[in-house]
Amino acid sequence: MSKRELMDQVVKEILECRKCDLWKSRRNPVPGEGSLDAKIMFIGEAPGYWEDIKGRPFVGAAGKLLDKLLAGIGLSREEVFIGNILKCRPPGNRDPQPEEVYACTPYLDRQIRIIKPKIIVTLGRHASAYIFSKAGIPFSGISKVHGKVYSAEVLDLDVTLVPMYHPAVALYNARLKSALEEDFRILAVQLEE
Ligand code: URA
Ligand code: SF4
Repeated sequence: MSKRELMDQVVKEILECRKCDLWKSRRNPVPGEGSLDAKIMFIGEAPGYWEDIKGRPFVGAAGKLLDKLLAGIGLSREEVFIGNILKCRPPGNRDPQPEEVYACTPYLDRQIRIIKPKIIVTLGRHASAYIFSKAGIPFSGISKVHGKVYSAEVLDLDVTLVPMYHPAVALYNARLKSALEEDFRILAVQLEE
Protein backbone atom coordinates (compact mmCIF):
# COMPACT_ATOMS: atom_id res chain seq x y z
CA MET A 1 0.00 0.00 0.00
CA SER A 2 1.15 3.57 -0.65
CA LYS A 3 1.81 6.03 2.16
CA ARG A 4 -1.42 7.80 1.22
CA GLU A 5 -3.46 4.60 1.45
CA LEU A 6 -1.89 3.69 4.78
CA MET A 7 -2.57 7.16 6.18
CA ASP A 8 -6.12 7.21 4.85
CA GLN A 9 -6.72 3.97 6.74
CA VAL A 10 -5.37 5.47 9.98
CA VAL A 11 -7.53 8.58 9.50
CA LYS A 12 -10.61 6.49 8.84
CA GLU A 13 -10.09 4.55 12.07
CA ILE A 14 -9.56 7.78 14.04
CA LEU A 15 -12.77 9.28 12.67
CA GLU A 16 -14.70 6.24 13.93
CA CYS A 17 -12.69 5.67 17.10
CA ARG A 18 -14.25 5.02 20.50
CA LYS A 19 -11.23 3.54 22.24
CA CYS A 20 -11.35 6.04 25.09
CA ASP A 21 -14.11 8.19 26.57
CA LEU A 22 -13.05 11.33 24.72
CA TRP A 23 -15.18 10.36 21.72
CA LYS A 24 -18.25 11.24 23.78
CA SER A 25 -17.41 14.93 24.13
CA ARG A 26 -15.48 15.62 20.92
CA ARG A 27 -17.04 17.44 18.00
CA ASN A 28 -14.41 16.32 15.53
CA PRO A 29 -11.35 14.15 15.93
CA VAL A 30 -8.13 15.76 14.71
CA PRO A 31 -6.01 13.13 12.94
CA GLY A 32 -3.24 15.55 11.96
CA GLU A 33 -2.14 16.84 8.58
CA GLY A 34 0.73 17.72 6.32
CA SER A 35 3.15 16.07 3.95
CA LEU A 36 3.49 12.30 4.12
CA ASP A 37 7.08 12.79 2.95
CA ALA A 38 7.80 15.39 5.61
CA LYS A 39 11.34 15.53 6.90
CA ILE A 40 10.02 17.00 10.16
CA MET A 41 7.09 15.92 12.27
CA PHE A 42 5.71 18.20 14.98
CA ILE A 43 3.85 16.48 17.77
CA GLY A 44 1.56 18.49 20.02
CA GLU A 45 -0.62 17.47 22.92
CA ALA A 46 -4.29 17.36 21.98
CA PRO A 47 -6.90 19.38 20.10
CA GLY A 48 -8.19 22.51 21.81
CA TYR A 49 -11.40 24.45 21.26
CA TRP A 50 -10.84 25.49 17.63
CA GLU A 51 -9.15 22.29 16.57
CA ASP A 52 -12.17 20.34 17.88
CA ILE A 53 -14.48 22.56 15.85
CA LYS A 54 -12.44 22.45 12.66
CA GLY A 55 -11.00 18.95 12.85
CA ARG A 56 -7.54 20.37 12.07
CA PRO A 57 -4.44 20.66 14.26
CA PHE A 58 -3.08 23.95 15.59
CA VAL A 59 -5.64 26.32 14.11
CA GLY A 60 -6.22 28.42 17.26
CA ALA A 61 -3.96 31.01 18.90
CA ALA A 62 -1.15 28.51 19.55
CA GLY A 63 -1.39 27.49 15.91
CA LYS A 64 -0.95 31.07 14.74
CA LEU A 65 2.26 31.26 16.74
CA LEU A 66 3.39 27.91 15.37
CA ASP A 67 2.75 29.16 11.80
CA LYS A 68 4.89 32.23 12.54
CA LEU A 69 7.70 30.18 14.01
CA LEU A 70 7.63 27.86 10.99
CA ALA A 71 7.64 30.76 8.55
CA GLY A 72 10.54 32.30 10.47
CA ILE A 73 12.74 29.36 9.51
CA GLY A 74 11.38 29.11 5.99
CA LEU A 75 8.92 26.28 6.50
CA SER A 76 5.26 26.07 5.53
CA ARG A 77 2.68 23.83 7.16
CA GLU A 78 2.34 21.90 3.91
CA GLU A 79 5.90 20.63 3.95
CA VAL A 80 5.88 19.36 7.54
CA PHE A 81 3.47 17.03 9.31
CA ILE A 82 1.64 18.26 12.39
CA GLY A 83 0.01 15.76 14.74
CA ASN A 84 -0.93 15.26 18.34
CA ILE A 85 -0.65 12.70 21.12
CA LEU A 86 -4.45 12.64 21.50
CA LYS A 87 -6.74 12.96 18.50
CA CYS A 88 -9.81 14.12 20.46
CA ARG A 89 -10.15 17.17 22.68
CA PRO A 90 -10.07 16.61 26.44
CA PRO A 91 -12.99 18.52 28.03
CA GLY A 92 -11.90 22.00 29.11
CA ASN A 93 -8.44 21.32 27.66
CA ARG A 94 -7.45 19.31 30.73
CA ASP A 95 -4.26 17.25 30.65
CA PRO A 96 -4.32 13.95 28.76
CA GLN A 97 -4.93 11.03 31.12
CA PRO A 98 -2.61 8.02 31.00
CA GLU A 99 -5.38 5.70 29.77
CA GLU A 100 -6.18 8.13 26.94
CA VAL A 101 -2.53 8.32 25.91
CA TYR A 102 -2.37 4.52 26.00
CA ALA A 103 -5.50 4.16 23.88
CA CYS A 104 -4.63 6.82 21.32
CA THR A 105 -0.88 6.69 20.71
CA PRO A 106 -0.96 3.57 18.51
CA TYR A 107 -2.39 5.95 15.86
CA LEU A 108 0.53 8.34 16.28
CA ASP A 109 2.99 5.45 16.17
CA ARG A 110 1.49 4.32 12.86
CA GLN A 111 1.70 7.87 11.50
CA ILE A 112 5.38 8.07 12.46
CA ARG A 113 6.05 4.72 10.77
CA ILE A 114 4.30 5.87 7.59
CA ILE A 115 6.00 9.26 7.37
CA LYS A 116 9.43 8.16 8.60
CA PRO A 117 10.53 11.67 9.60
CA LYS A 118 14.21 12.54 10.01
CA ILE A 119 13.41 15.03 12.75
CA ILE A 120 10.74 14.84 15.45
CA VAL A 121 9.88 18.03 17.31
CA THR A 122 7.82 17.43 20.42
CA LEU A 123 5.81 20.39 21.64
CA GLY A 124 5.33 20.45 25.40
CA ARG A 125 5.83 17.96 28.17
CA HIS A 126 3.18 15.42 27.21
CA ALA A 127 4.47 14.87 23.69
CA SER A 128 8.06 15.00 24.89
CA ALA A 129 7.50 12.50 27.69
CA TYR A 130 5.80 10.10 25.29
CA ILE A 131 8.47 10.23 22.58
CA PHE A 132 11.31 10.09 25.14
CA SER A 133 9.79 6.91 26.54
CA LYS A 134 9.63 5.45 23.01
CA ALA A 135 13.29 6.38 22.57
CA GLY A 136 14.26 4.91 25.93
CA ILE A 137 15.60 8.26 27.14
CA PRO A 138 14.74 9.28 30.72
CA PHE A 139 12.59 12.44 30.64
CA SER A 140 13.76 14.99 33.17
CA GLY A 141 11.17 17.70 32.44
CA ILE A 142 10.56 20.05 29.55
CA SER A 143 12.44 23.00 31.11
CA LYS A 144 15.58 20.83 31.29
CA VAL A 145 15.44 19.27 27.83
CA HIS A 146 13.90 21.91 25.55
CA GLY A 147 16.17 23.02 22.74
CA LYS A 148 18.52 20.07 23.13
CA VAL A 149 19.18 17.86 20.15
CA TYR A 150 19.03 14.11 20.68
CA SER A 151 19.99 11.31 18.32
CA ALA A 152 17.38 8.72 19.09
CA GLU A 153 15.81 5.55 17.86
CA VAL A 154 12.04 5.86 17.81
CA LEU A 155 9.97 2.94 16.49
CA ASP A 156 13.06 1.52 14.75
CA LEU A 157 13.73 4.83 12.99
CA ASP A 158 16.90 6.84 13.51
CA VAL A 159 15.68 10.34 14.25
CA THR A 160 16.89 13.66 15.53
CA LEU A 161 14.66 14.56 18.44
CA VAL A 162 14.19 18.21 19.42
CA PRO A 163 11.84 18.80 22.37
CA MET A 164 10.42 22.30 22.77
CA TYR A 165 8.02 24.25 24.95
CA HIS A 166 4.42 24.13 23.81
CA PRO A 167 3.44 27.26 21.81
CA ALA A 168 0.34 27.68 24.03
CA VAL A 169 2.47 28.36 27.11
CA ALA A 170 4.66 30.77 25.14
CA LEU A 171 1.59 32.89 24.30
CA TYR A 172 1.37 34.25 27.82
CA ASN A 173 4.97 34.07 28.94
CA ALA A 174 7.57 36.24 27.23
CA ARG A 175 10.49 34.27 28.64
CA LEU A 176 9.15 30.97 27.31
CA LYS A 177 8.36 32.61 23.99
CA SER A 178 11.99 33.71 23.63
CA ALA A 179 13.07 30.20 24.54
CA LEU A 180 10.77 28.76 21.89
CA GLU A 181 12.11 31.17 19.26
CA GLU A 182 15.66 30.18 20.17
CA ASP A 183 14.70 26.49 19.93
CA PHE A 184 13.40 27.09 16.41
CA ARG A 185 16.77 28.59 15.48
CA ILE A 186 18.37 25.38 16.75
CA LEU A 187 15.92 23.43 14.61
CA ALA A 188 16.85 25.54 11.59
CA VAL A 189 20.49 24.54 12.05
CA GLN A 190 19.47 20.86 12.15
CA LEU A 191 17.55 21.31 8.92
CA GLU A 192 20.67 22.36 7.11
CA GLU A 193 22.51 19.19 8.10
N1 URA B 1 -2.46 22.42 21.10
C1 URA B 1 -2.03 21.19 20.76
O1 URA B 1 -1.27 20.57 21.47
N2 URA B 1 -2.46 20.67 19.62
C2 URA B 1 -3.27 21.30 18.79
O2 URA B 1 -3.60 20.74 17.74
C3 URA B 1 -3.69 22.59 19.15
C4 URA B 1 -3.28 23.13 20.31
FE1 SF4 C 1 -9.93 7.24 19.96
FE2 SF4 C 1 -7.83 8.75 20.48
FE3 SF4 C 1 -10.22 9.88 20.25
FE4 SF4 C 1 -9.67 8.38 22.37
S1 SF4 C 1 -8.68 10.32 21.83
S2 SF4 C 1 -11.54 8.27 21.13
S3 SF4 C 1 -8.34 6.82 21.49
S4 SF4 C 1 -9.07 8.83 18.62
